[in-house]
This record gives sequence, C-alpha cells and structure tokens, in this order.
Amino acid sequence: MAGLGVNIDHIATIRQARLTDEPDPVWAAVEAELGGADCITFHLREDRRHINDRDATLLRQTVATKLNMEMAIAPGIVRIALNLKPDQATLVPEKREELTTEGGLNVVKLRRRIAPVVKKLRAAGIETSAFIEPEPDQIAASAECGFDAIELWTAGYCDAKTTKAQILALEKLDRGVELGLEHELIVHGGHGLTYRNVQPVAEIVGFSEFNIGHSIVARAAFVGMRAAVREMKRLLEMAENRLMLGIGTATE
Ligand code: PXP
Repeated sequence: MAGLGVNIDHIATIRQARLTDEPDPVWAAVEAELGGADCITFHLREDRRHINDRDATLLRQTVATKLNMEMAIAPGIVRIALNLKPDQATLVPEKREELTTEGGLNVVKLRRRIAPVVKKLRAAGIETSAFIEPEPDQIAASAECGFDAIELWTAGYCDAKTTKAQILALEKLDRGVELGLEHELIVHGGHGLTYRNVQPVAEIVGFSEFNIGHSIVARAAFVGMRAAVREMKRLLEMAENRLMLGIGTATE
C-alpha cells in the first residue's frame, strides 16, 4: 500500500499568523505519527513563512518515521539540508509570491544546476526526489540527474473541472508512474489531494507514497490531527483493497 506523508507546514502557518509559539508543528508531527503517518513532510522555504530552522532541527530529532524535507535548490537551503540530514529531500520550485508550490520543478531546463545538488545530497546519505509534472521529458531528465525518486504533481487532476479532464489527468499520471518505474525511480505523488479526490489517484498502481498537507490540516482543525490522519490512511487502504479485488475506478 502507498504510504502517507503528512505535510505539517500549515500548522506552522497558523502559528505564524500570530507570531506566537502555538500550534507547534513538532507536536503535529507526533500526532500525525500516532494517527499512522508513514512520513512527515515539511518545506523550509527561503522566506521562512511557516516552518523555521528551529522546527526543522526539532523535527529531525523527534520524527520516528521518515522525514521528508521539501526544498529549493538555493545554496543556503542546500547547506541546511546537508547538515540536517532528512531521510529524503524533495526538490521543488519556489517563488516568493506564490501561495503554495505552483507546478513541478523544471528539471529539463535546470538540469545543470540540479544534478550537482542531487549528487551532494545523495553523497550525504539523503534520498532525493524531484517534484515534477507527469511529463515524459521531466521524468527522463530526473532519472538522468540521478534522483532516487520522483513526486508526480497531482494538482492537474485535482484542479480538473470536468470528468473528462479528470480522466485525462489520471491517465497522464498513470503513464507517468509507469514511465518512472521503467526508469527505476521510486514514484510518489502529491499536491491538491483531499479526502474527496484521493481515491482514484490511490488506485493507480505503482505509487509508493502520497504527500498530503492542506486537506489533512484543515480536517485536523475539527477532528484533531490523529483522527484526520487515520481517516486519510483509511481511504488509502480502501483504494488498495479495491485494487486487490480488481474493482479500481481510476481510468475505467
Ligand atoms: N508535495 C509537494 C512537493 C508540495 O510542495 C506540497 C505543498 O507543500 C504538497 C505535496 C502538499 O500539497 P497539499 O498541501 O495541497 O496537500
């Protein structure tokens, strides 16, 4: 079954709304793990708009599952990652003016800058993942840069307005997973996934992990982080069961 990476950035977003010390994303990580999270994901942005250096250090010391750091390829952030040694580093594009990560990293265009970063991170024992759109050239370029994994941008499907557009986006993801596996890459997925839209994506064979943030944090505001994570895990399990029974709905 695909694992669940819980992105806890937006717990820190709430804290930063008052520049205070609560809620603590480190507590959120503990609660997410108690709810069954397989991985804790955070994004240390250059502008430190939510997660800060103190959070990153404490998360490294306390996360008992897998710690995944989303990061830009900026030299200062790469230095922090090399010191921190998360289990996995996911390279993402980053723009100051964006609300959240917009689209995938352009590995094709930036490969000369990206490949040395991947090499350094891997040499430090950090697994590397490229957050990319499910395009064949981006997948091939990620393999050429030496990444261990790719995280396919799922927002194309999540934002699709019609059933036809959703099906096309799911087919694209399906082909992306297949191509990634052919390149011997581990394939993750994420961005824009919610309790309502996750199942068809989770029924695509070959995904190892999904990183989900906003929707889980939003639900946690009402039911608590532990219960919110448990519910998302249950949806992933249901998708897995449907797959095993051969009654998947993904691209029927
Ligand atoms: N994966 C990556 C690479 C991301 O940048 C984000 C957002 O930080 C997520 C997954 C989670 O997206 P969402 O908050 O929409 O679930």
